[in-house]
Amino acid sequence: MPEHYLGIDVGTTAVKALVVDESGSVLGDAESGLRLSVAKPGWSEQDPADWWSGTIEAVRAACNQAGIGDVAAIGLSGQMHSSVLLDASDDVLRPAMLWNDVRTTAQCRWINENVGSDGLRRMVGNPALEGFTAPKLLWVRDEEPEVFERMRSVLLPKDYVRLLMTSDKVTEASDAAGTLLFDVREGVWSEEMVDGLGLDLSILPRVMGSAEVTGSLTKGAADALGLRQGIPVVGGGADNAAASVGSGNVGEGSMQTSIGTSGAVVAPIETVRVDPEMRIHSFNHALADRWYLMGVVLSAGAALGWFRSVLVGRRKVGLTYEELIAEADEVPIGADGLTFLPYLTGERTPHADSNARGVFVGLHSGHERGHLVRAVLEGVVFALRDSLELMRELGVNAQEAVAVGGGARSETWRQMQADVLGVPVVTAGPSGGAPYGAALLAAVGTVRFGSVEAGCRAWIRPVDRLEPSEISADAYHSAYERYTRLYPRLKEHFAETAQA
Ligand code: XUL
Repeated sequence: MPEHYLGIDVGTTAVKALVVDESGSVLGDAESGLRLSVAKPGWSEQDPADWWSGTIEAVRAACNQAGIGDVAAIGLSGQMHSSVLLDASDDVLRPAMLWNDVRTTAQCRWINENVGSDGLRRMVGNPALEGFTAPKLLWVRDEEPEVFERMRSVLLPKDYVRLLMTSDKVTEASDAAGTLLFDVREGVWSEEMVDGLGLDLSILPRVMGSAEVTGSLTKGAADALGLRQGIPVVGGGADNAAASVGSGNVGEGSMQTSIGTSGAVVAPIETVRVDPEMRIHSFNHALADRWYLMGVVLSAGAALGWFRSVLVGRRKVGLTYEELIAEADEVPIGADGLTFLPYLTGERTPHADSNARGVFVGLHSGHERGHLVRAVLEGVVFALRDSLELMRELGVNAQEAVAVGGGARSETWRQMQADVLGVPVVTAGPSGGAPYGAALLAAVGTVRFGSVEAGCRAWIRPVDRLEPSEISADAYHSAYERYTRLYPRLKEHFAETAQA
């Protein structure tokens, strides 16, 4: 009997499911869209029930497409940091606050005052940033004490889906790392940090391996998904870690750039390193004894998505991304003096500023729609370069980048990355994304492969390679300089506007 593996990614815009066969080919690929609620500026919430209905829809569609009704194992990946709060009966207490929800500035200040940067660096290896999980728990403590009182568990998105699949409350190190409650060096919850924040260790799930079987599909979940009871579910990984597995970005010296809703530069490291100034995240990878450095752009694909939605308005139809990007292709590098800062929901790396906002600067009456699209595409890539420059300071010296995420489908955007980042940009097949990485972890967890690296060698192959052009790189250079000069000039304005 041929074996199949199911990879599921609980993303921000959709739940995605992939069915992969034992040779690594994708037989089924489906997604189910998710709603996002922005009730106030800086808030970003989802209903965890939608993740489960999205999982059911995507899994059924992917299995139908593949023509199968059974798989050997399931792997999970998902958006990082987003917090699901459960009561004593495991009922969801409030909408999940997502990774791009930046309401927790006061709580981050509280953590900085009470734990301090030395404490953070030592205990969890990362700074207190609005999007991370721990500040959200403190926000609930401060703003919704009745919810805090009833909270008995906190789970990350993929681990909430796991709970509904297997009845087990389990996470793995790559997702635990993004909570600000995890000792990334030792790979265990930091009891000192948990205590220091006045939280109870019992609210946190058990930590198991990313490629370890954490439980099996219950009868109820199997019926809902149209699958067999008892299918093993493996740990899986945080979306950035799982995508890295799915693109073969697992060894020191390699690097991944991702443009999904967020953007990220991810560089695996084989001995744990923490940026002394903690400008770059240090998280556990989905391989034991491996970590990665990461810079995060909060609105990457989301910036282009926002711009398209502004153009198409309420009709929500017309003007595909391809059409928009084709217009940008007609415009010279630098968009005739137009610069876009993609800080629509604040920015993580390098500014760590939740007050920052998106801006177009330099508009003139000769600009057309294509100039604006080009400025958005360039702004996102310049933001990735900001992260890469910090990582280069920390010794990251990757000679090429593997591009993943929806943005990697555009050759224009990939070539822009090659020219701006100054390295060849490759893509990895057959899929290169987080759900594929989750399926690969499922195969490793059920011992098809002896290691994640062996799985990557067997299944992943290069698809495409774009070399940086020196001529374009020169032209981008001045546009990037213009871009980097803007934030320091606007920082105060952003703070004043936020206060007002
Ligand atoms: C990473 C981050 C985002 C989300 C997107 O730190 O916040 O990339 O994981 O799903």
